[in-house]
Amino acid sequence: MGDMSDYHSMKERADTCAAAIRRHDEVRVVSHLDADGLTAAAIMSRTLDRCGIEHDVRCVKQLDRMVLGEVADANVPTIFTDLGSGMLSEMPLDIEIVVADHHQIDRRHVDHQHLHHLNPHLFGIDGSTELSGAGCAYILAQSLGENYDLADLAIVGAVGDLQARKSGRLVGCNRAILEKGADHGVIGYKRDLSLFGKQTRQMFKLLQYSSDPYLPGLTGNEGASIMFLKNVGINSSGERWKRWIDLGVGERQKVVSSLVQYCISKRMSSYHIQRLVTEGYTLIREQEGIEMRDASEYATLLNATGRYGFADIGLAVCLGDRDKEFAKAKDLLAGHRKNLVDGLNFVKEQGITELTHIQYFDAGSSIKDTIVGIVAGMSLTNRRKRDMPMLAFADSDGGAKVSARGTQDLVRRGLNLADAIEACAAKVGGMGGGHNIAAGATIPDGTKDEFLELMDVMVGEQVTPAE
Ligand code: C5P
Ligand code: C5P
Ligand code: ZN
Repeated sequence: MGDMSDYHSMKERADTCAAAIRRHDEVRVVSHLDADGLTAAAIMSRTLDRCGIEHDVRCVKQLDRMVLGEVADANVPTIFTDLGSGMLSEMPLDIEIVVADHHQIDRRHVDHQHLHHLNPHLFGIDGSTELSGAGCAYILAQSLGENYDLADLAIVGAVGDLQARKSGRLVGCNRAILEKGADHGVIGYKRDLSLFGKQTRQMFKLLQYSSDPYLPGLTGNEGASIMFLKNVGINSSGERWKRWIDLGVGERQKVVSSLVQYCISKRMSSYHIQRLVTEGYTLIREQEGIEMRDASEYATLLNATGRYGFADIGLAVCLGDRDKEFAKAKDLLAGHRKNLVDGLNFVKEQGITELTHIQYFDAGSSIKDTIVGIVAGMSLTNRRKRDMPMLAFADSDGGAKVSARGTQDLVRRGLNLADAIEACAAKVGGMGGGHNIAAGATIPDGTKDEFLELMDVMVGEQVTPAE
């Protein structure tokens, strides 16, 4: 059972936010451009439609002073989803603002007469693992009407933010939303093979492209992946390879047990072997065999739109387009997958530099600033040396983009990347924030070395030595 008391404490605050929204017949939604941000925006947009409140939606890379300036100029009541909590003290004062976010909260003094803030951290709920931006928007949506059917989008958002990774399943408020969604017949969940692409990809590609976990000898090797499956008795039937969903129960069990045996024979750590089977989430109302049927494939499809400047396409898919916009999203997905593979290869070739308490790579212009964080996360997951957070740099407008990723173990030992990155970025004239386990910033050109030194010291202070 999910934690319903947490859920109810947030619900009261959500009611206040909803009352503020209902006072207007026109609002604006500003959201983040990743999968969680897009699903959060879609939940809000559907809900506002149902309330008869006119609105436009804008998705941004991050909430900086430029975006806030535009919000102030527009002078329309604004709902921020999946961002905003780190910038409360800079919100325009003259308009009514609702922030539904799960990022760490701005600790600077806030004196705003018309600001309503919904965030799990306010209620002792962990925003990096127990509730996503989409989940927060979902809770707000329940205060604006009967919107239980939007639970599937909230789950896609949580999965997109990797909130199921810690325990191999969704926990806390996310679980309460999941169970409500299951009761209403919109989402299903069960333990299953964790590899990416179960709905849409030919079976051997699940192995060939597996990055979490990395499968030694199979990842990156098409021939070996095909041989592995042939040995298990899974063949292409004629021209066509089966997908995971085409396999029978016996075949599936055989693939899983053979993979586990294989990984043991390759002396993979039990941590990585355990990651082969995790809870998976199915969007029951979606057709079988398309990306949107599986929460993880859906989230990646959305990342392939928003992170490349095509948030409107991702949003259209979330709002139900299964035609032209979906086709465009699939084209973008092919490019996104290629960019991730190229990014990982770049890191492999260039190498990772280790300082005392952090490790990093600088992608320059080789990896796009909006996906360098994903590559950083994957590089850390694949690496043996996982006891130091991974930082990554990429060229960006107005400076260098920094992305940082940690592990649950490091968080348990005190790591808080949002605190560290916010403080260190500020010291070199930049701005950042995020979560304990994942954070980002933009810093001025020429400050990278100083920033790295500061981060190395601060992370060293945060993290207690392993027992
Ligand atoms: O801005 P937002 O909250 O949507 O992004 C959260 C980020 O945290 C995602 O990029 C996600 O990949 C990352 N994350 C992670 N490891 C976790 C949890 C979240 O890298 N265990
Ligand atoms: O961009 P990246 O994926 O590395 O972001 C990781 C986390 O840090 C996300 O939750 C993102 O919203 C947050 N972030 C932020 N401020 C920035 C950049 C990223 O709060 N300037
Ligand atoms: Zn989020």
